[in-house]
Amino acid sequence: MDKAQQDALKKAAGIEAAKLIENGMIAGLGTGSTVKFLVDELGRRVQEEGLQFTGVTTSRRTQAQAESYGIKIVDIDDVDHIDVTIDGADEVDKNFNGIKGGGAALLWEKIVATNSDKIVWIVDESKVVDTIGKFPLPVEVIPFGAGHVIKKFEAKGYKPVLRLDAEGKEVRTDENNYVVDLHLEKIEHPFELAEDLINTVGVVEHGLFLNMVDKVIVGDPNGPRVLTNGNK
Ligand code: 5RP
Repeated sequence: MDKAQQDALKKAAGIEAAKLIENGMIAGLGTGSTVKFLVDELGRRVQEEGLQFTGVTTSRRTQAQAESYGIKIVDIDDVDHIDVTIDGADEVDKNFNGIKGGGAALLWEKIVATNSDKIVWIVDESKVVDTIGKFPLPVEVIPFGAGHVIKKFEAKGYKPVLRLDAEGKEVRTDENNYVVDLHLEKIEHPFELAEDLINTVGVVEHGLFLNMVDKVIVGDPNGPRVLTNGNK
Protein backbone atom coordinates (compact mmCIF):
# COMPACT_ATOMS: atom_id res chain seq x y z
CA MET A 1 0.00 0.00 0.00
CA ASP A 2 1.47 3.40 -0.92
CA LYS A 3 1.13 6.51 1.25
CA ALA A 4 -1.72 7.99 -0.80
CA GLN A 5 -3.75 4.77 -0.45
CA GLN A 6 -2.99 4.59 3.26
CA ASP A 7 -4.03 8.23 3.75
CA ALA A 8 -7.31 7.56 1.91
CA LEU A 9 -8.07 4.70 4.33
CA LYS A 10 -7.10 6.84 7.35
CA LYS A 11 -9.36 9.62 6.10
CA ALA A 12 -12.30 7.26 5.58
CA ALA A 13 -11.89 5.92 9.15
CA GLY A 14 -11.65 9.48 10.52
CA ILE A 15 -14.79 10.63 8.72
CA GLU A 16 -16.70 7.55 9.90
CA ALA A 17 -15.62 8.12 13.52
CA ALA A 18 -16.68 11.78 13.43
CA LYS A 19 -20.29 10.53 13.19
CA LEU A 20 -19.99 9.35 16.81
CA ILE A 21 -19.78 12.91 18.13
CA GLU A 22 -23.14 14.49 18.95
CA ASN A 23 -24.25 17.86 20.30
CA GLY A 24 -23.37 18.41 23.95
CA MET A 25 -20.79 15.63 24.17
CA ILE A 26 -17.40 15.83 25.80
CA ALA A 27 -15.00 14.15 23.38
CA GLY A 28 -11.38 13.12 23.78
CA LEU A 29 -9.39 13.89 20.65
CA GLY A 30 -6.27 11.82 20.02
CA THR A 31 -3.10 12.60 18.11
CA GLY A 32 -1.59 11.69 14.77
CA SER A 33 -2.22 11.77 11.04
CA THR A 34 -5.45 9.71 11.23
CA VAL A 35 -6.85 11.92 13.99
CA LYS A 36 -5.98 14.93 11.86
CA PHE A 37 -8.58 13.73 9.33
CA LEU A 38 -11.07 13.23 12.17
CA VAL A 39 -10.54 16.77 13.45
CA ASP A 40 -10.86 18.16 9.90
CA GLU A 41 -14.26 16.48 9.62
CA LEU A 42 -15.37 17.61 13.09
CA GLY A 43 -14.27 21.15 12.20
CA ARG A 44 -16.35 20.95 9.02
CA ARG A 45 -19.38 19.80 11.03
CA VAL A 46 -18.89 22.61 13.57
CA GLN A 47 -18.64 25.23 10.83
CA GLU A 48 -21.22 23.88 8.38
CA GLU A 49 -23.71 21.99 10.56
CA GLY A 50 -23.46 23.94 13.82
CA LEU A 51 -22.25 20.90 15.79
CA GLN A 52 -21.47 21.90 19.38
CA PHE A 53 -19.27 19.76 21.57
CA THR A 54 -16.39 20.17 24.01
CA GLY A 55 -13.02 18.58 23.34
CA VAL A 56 -10.17 17.40 25.54
CA THR A 57 -7.02 16.87 23.53
CA THR A 58 -4.12 14.45 23.93
CA SER A 59 -1.49 16.84 22.59
CA ARG A 60 -0.84 20.51 22.00
CA ARG A 61 -0.76 19.74 18.25
CA THR A 62 -4.33 18.46 18.24
CA GLN A 63 -5.42 21.34 20.46
CA ALA A 64 -4.05 23.87 17.96
CA GLN A 65 -5.75 22.14 15.01
CA ALA A 66 -9.11 21.84 16.80
CA GLU A 67 -9.05 25.45 17.99
CA SER A 68 -8.28 26.62 14.46
CA TYR A 69 -11.77 25.32 13.55
CA GLY A 70 -13.40 27.01 16.55
CA ILE A 71 -13.83 23.73 18.46
CA LYS A 72 -14.02 24.42 22.22
CA ILE A 73 -11.10 22.73 23.99
CA VAL A 74 -10.87 22.52 27.80
CA ASP A 75 -8.36 21.13 30.28
CA ILE A 76 -8.95 17.53 31.31
CA ASP A 77 -9.34 18.64 34.93
CA ASP A 78 -12.20 20.95 33.94
CA VAL A 79 -14.47 18.04 32.97
CA ASP A 80 -15.92 15.35 35.24
CA HIS A 81 -16.10 12.75 32.48
CA ILE A 82 -15.30 12.19 28.80
CA ASP A 83 -18.07 10.50 26.78
CA VAL A 84 -15.85 9.05 24.10
CA THR A 85 -12.23 9.37 23.03
CA ILE A 86 -11.28 8.79 19.41
CA ASP A 87 -7.59 8.17 18.82
CA GLY A 88 -5.24 6.51 16.36
CA ALA A 89 -3.01 3.52 17.03
CA ASP A 90 0.20 2.06 15.64
CA GLU A 91 -0.81 -1.61 15.89
CA VAL A 92 -3.74 -3.61 17.25
CA ASP A 93 -4.21 -7.38 17.54
CA LYS A 94 -7.33 -9.56 17.69
CA ASN A 95 -7.38 -9.37 21.52
CA PHE A 96 -7.61 -5.58 21.26
CA ASN A 97 -4.11 -5.12 22.62
CA GLY A 98 -2.37 -2.24 20.92
CA ILE A 99 0.71 -0.08 20.63
CA LYS A 100 0.44 3.70 20.69
CA GLY A 101 2.89 6.54 20.94
CA GLY A 102 4.31 6.76 17.44
CA GLY A 103 3.55 10.46 17.67
CA ALA A 104 5.11 10.74 21.16
CA ALA A 105 1.76 11.56 22.79
CA LEU A 106 1.34 8.27 24.68
CA LEU A 107 1.24 9.72 28.20
CA TRP A 108 -1.55 12.23 27.62
CA GLU A 109 -3.27 9.67 25.38
CA LYS A 110 -3.32 7.13 28.20
CA ILE A 111 -4.50 9.68 30.76
CA VAL A 112 -7.36 10.78 28.48
CA ALA A 113 -8.20 7.16 27.59
CA THR A 114 -8.38 5.98 31.20
CA ASN A 115 -10.81 8.82 31.98
CA SER A 116 -13.12 8.08 29.03
CA ASP A 117 -16.42 6.17 29.09
CA LYS A 118 -15.70 4.73 25.64
CA ILE A 119 -12.52 4.46 23.56
CA VAL A 120 -12.54 4.20 19.77
CA TRP A 121 -9.45 3.80 17.61
CA ILE A 122 -9.21 4.71 13.96
CA VAL A 123 -6.62 2.88 11.88
CA ASP A 124 -5.92 1.83 8.33
CA GLU A 125 -5.98 -1.93 7.69
CA SER A 126 -2.17 -2.28 7.75
CA LYS A 127 -2.23 -1.72 11.54
CA VAL A 128 -4.35 -4.78 12.34
CA VAL A 129 -1.78 -7.50 13.11
CA ASP A 130 -1.57 -11.04 14.51
CA THR A 131 1.08 -10.18 17.09
CA ILE A 132 2.03 -6.68 18.17
CA GLY A 133 5.67 -5.60 18.40
CA LYS A 134 6.86 -5.08 14.85
CA PHE A 135 6.16 -1.38 15.44
CA PRO A 136 8.80 -0.23 17.98
CA LEU A 137 7.16 0.14 21.39
CA PRO A 138 7.43 3.74 22.68
CA VAL A 139 8.31 4.27 26.33
CA GLU A 140 8.22 7.76 27.89
CA VAL A 141 11.23 8.26 30.17
CA ILE A 142 12.30 11.07 32.49
CA PRO A 143 15.48 12.70 31.05
CA PHE A 144 17.33 12.49 34.40
CA GLY A 145 19.08 9.11 34.41
CA ALA A 146 17.62 8.08 31.05
CA GLY A 147 20.98 6.57 30.06
CA HIS A 148 20.71 4.10 32.97
CA VAL A 149 17.15 3.16 32.01
CA ILE A 150 18.35 2.50 28.47
CA LYS A 151 21.19 0.28 29.78
CA LYS A 152 18.68 -1.73 31.85
CA PHE A 153 16.51 -2.20 28.77
CA GLU A 154 19.58 -3.30 26.77
CA ALA A 155 20.46 -5.87 29.43
CA LYS A 156 16.94 -7.29 29.16
CA GLY A 157 17.22 -7.59 25.36
CA TYR A 158 14.58 -4.93 24.69
CA LYS A 159 16.73 -3.25 21.97
CA PRO A 160 16.05 0.35 23.07
CA VAL A 161 16.70 3.35 20.83
CA LEU A 162 16.40 6.92 22.13
CA ARG A 163 14.09 8.78 19.74
CA LEU A 164 15.80 11.69 17.96
CA ASP A 165 14.37 14.35 15.68
CA ALA A 166 15.59 15.24 12.15
CA GLU A 167 18.37 17.42 13.66
CA GLY A 168 19.60 14.61 15.88
CA LYS A 169 18.17 16.13 19.09
CA GLU A 170 16.18 14.10 21.61
CA VAL A 171 12.46 14.21 20.86
CA ARG A 172 10.58 15.77 23.80
CA THR A 173 7.01 14.93 24.72
CA ASP A 174 4.41 17.51 25.78
CA GLU A 175 5.65 16.80 29.34
CA ASN A 176 9.24 17.43 28.23
CA ASN A 177 10.29 13.80 28.63
CA TYR A 178 12.25 11.53 26.26
CA VAL A 179 10.87 8.65 24.21
CA VAL A 180 12.75 5.35 24.03
CA ASP A 181 11.55 2.95 21.32
CA LEU A 182 11.90 -0.78 22.01
CA HIS A 183 12.58 -2.83 18.87
CA LEU A 184 11.07 -6.06 20.08
CA GLU A 185 9.65 -7.40 16.76
CA LYS A 186 7.14 -9.65 18.61
CA ILE A 187 5.49 -9.09 21.97
CA GLU A 188 4.20 -12.51 23.05
CA HIS A 189 3.41 -11.55 26.66
CA PRO A 190 2.23 -7.92 26.62
CA PHE A 191 0.79 -7.85 30.16
CA GLU A 192 4.06 -9.09 31.71
CA LEU A 193 6.05 -6.61 29.65
CA ALA A 194 3.74 -3.75 30.65
CA GLU A 195 4.21 -4.66 34.32
CA ASP A 196 8.00 -4.76 33.96
CA LEU A 197 8.16 -1.42 32.15
CA ILE A 198 5.93 0.50 34.53
CA ASN A 199 7.93 -0.84 37.49
CA THR A 200 11.19 0.54 36.09
CA VAL A 201 12.09 3.73 37.94
CA GLY A 202 12.43 6.58 35.43
CA VAL A 203 9.69 5.23 33.16
CA VAL A 204 6.66 7.51 33.16
CA GLU A 205 4.43 5.46 30.84
CA HIS A 206 4.61 2.94 28.02
CA GLY A 207 2.72 2.61 24.78
CA LEU A 208 1.04 -0.74 25.51
CA PHE A 209 -2.72 -0.09 25.61
CA LEU A 210 -4.01 -3.51 26.60
CA ASN A 211 -7.70 -4.40 26.27
CA MET A 212 -8.62 -0.74 26.72
CA VAL A 213 -10.27 0.04 23.41
CA ASP A 214 -14.01 -0.61 22.88
CA LYS A 215 -14.18 -0.31 19.10
CA VAL A 216 -11.69 -0.10 16.27
CA ILE A 217 -12.79 1.54 13.03
CA VAL A 218 -10.60 0.08 10.29
CA GLY A 219 -10.14 1.93 7.03
CA ASP A 220 -10.52 -0.83 4.45
CA PRO A 221 -10.59 -0.56 0.62
CA ASN A 222 -14.20 -1.86 0.74
CA GLY A 223 -15.23 0.84 3.23
CA PRO A 224 -14.67 1.32 6.96
CA ARG A 225 -15.42 -1.73 9.11
CA VAL A 226 -15.87 -1.84 12.87
CA LEU A 227 -14.25 -4.33 15.24
CA THR A 228 -16.03 -4.50 18.62
CA ASN A 229 -14.24 -5.64 21.76
CA GLY A 230 -16.54 -8.12 23.52
CA ASN A 231 -14.15 -8.65 26.44
CA LYS A 232 -14.41 -5.29 28.18
C1 5RP B 1 0.51 9.28 18.82
C2 5RP B 1 -0.19 8.01 18.55
C3 5RP B 1 -0.89 7.90 17.24
O1 5RP B 1 -2.25 7.76 17.49
C4 5RP B 1 -0.36 6.73 16.49
O2 5RP B 1 1.04 6.90 16.35
C5 5RP B 1 -0.99 6.61 15.10
O3 5RP B 1 -0.58 7.70 14.31
P1 5RP B 1 -1.00 7.87 12.81
O4 5RP B 1 -2.48 8.06 12.78
O5 5RP B 1 -0.25 9.09 12.36
O6 5RP B 1 -0.58 6.64 12.04
O7 5RP B 1 -0.22 7.09 19.32
O8 5RP B 1 1.28 9.22 19.99
